[in-house]
Amino acid sequence: MDLGLRKKTAIVTGGASTIGKAIAEGFAKENANVVVADVDKKQARRVVKTLNNMGDGEAIFIDTDVTDASQVEKMASETLERFGQIDILINNAGWTANDLFLNKPVSDFEKEIAINLWGPINCIRSVAPAMIQRSYGKIITIGSDAGRVGEYQEAVYSACKGGVNMLSKALAREFGKHNLNINVVSPGLTLPESPDDAGDDSLWHKDSHQSQIFQNEEVLKKVVRRYPLRRAAVPNDIVPIVLLLASDKSSYTTGQVISVSGGYAM
Ligand SMILES: NC(=O)c1ccc[n+]([C@@H]2O[C@H](COP(=O)([O-])OP(=O)(O)OC[C@H]3O[C@@H](n4cnc5c(N)ncnc54)[C@H](O)[C@@H]3O)[C@@H](O)[C@H]2O)c1
Repeated sequence: MDLGLRKKTAIVTGGASTIGKAIAEGFAKENANVVVADVDKKQARRVVKTLNNMGDGEAIFIDTDVTDASQVEKMASETLERFGQIDILINNAGWTANDLFLNKPVSDFEKEIAINLWGPINCIRSVAPAMIQRSYGKIITIGSDAGRVGEYQEAVYSACKGGVNMLSKALAREFGKHNLNINVVSPGLTLPESPDDAGDDSLWHKDSHQSQIFQNEEVLKKVVRRYPLRRAAVPNDIVPIVLLLASDKSSYTTGQVISVSGGYAM
């Protein structure tokens, strides 16, 4: 199926690693222009180089911390200057640190709220005016099934992801009359296919606490028992639904939270 994404311009926040990287590659293969907006300069530059060999779209990196509204504004205007339009925003950058609520420092809560909740708010605020002006836009936030079920040792992260679900629904109502489609794709546990897919700032960097936990086969076996399809996802399990929602094939779908999580949340 031709998704009609050729020459569309897609911003992918956190596009340097794991799920965001796979989504950026998905757009590049569909010949879209891609903006990788990330804080990890080294990994983002590496990814952009490969994206530019994948299709006839153009990929660029814009150094952007999504928690900083002024950096996000600047990223949106640079994208408009370079490509003339923003068709698609993928709010993918996210962060968490698994631990019991009472064990975590307040600074972790602040970081979780800043990246997972303020990140999408800042990005939507910066791209929506240009989308509304053209009466065209697709905004997809990568949520989490933690935000649907309330995950153990992920209290504030779950609250943020529940928050982006409601942010998206409320904005789907507000911006529907301007022809903006606003949806959430909600993964469960998703592991990188190769250590090279995770940069230094990735939760899944080979030396990270998170990676160490899931490299333990016994732990992983126990976790995936809670998934009806009995396995964790790979990033490319998440990509097709994102591309479909970013395309005009799903132009009558808005305000939805779609789990791609092997049936973890139903
Ligand atoms: N991997 C999973 O198991 C899983 C499960 C459910 C939901 N998710 C969600 O999917 C999204 C991607 O997760 P992932 O596993 O690919 O994470 P990841 O840590 O591998 O990648 C996140 C990317 O975001 C970038 N980033 C971090 N802080 C940033 C900031 N302030 N500004 C801009 N970029 C920043 C990082 O450099 C990295 O490239 C997140 O929103 C996450 O919450 C992931």
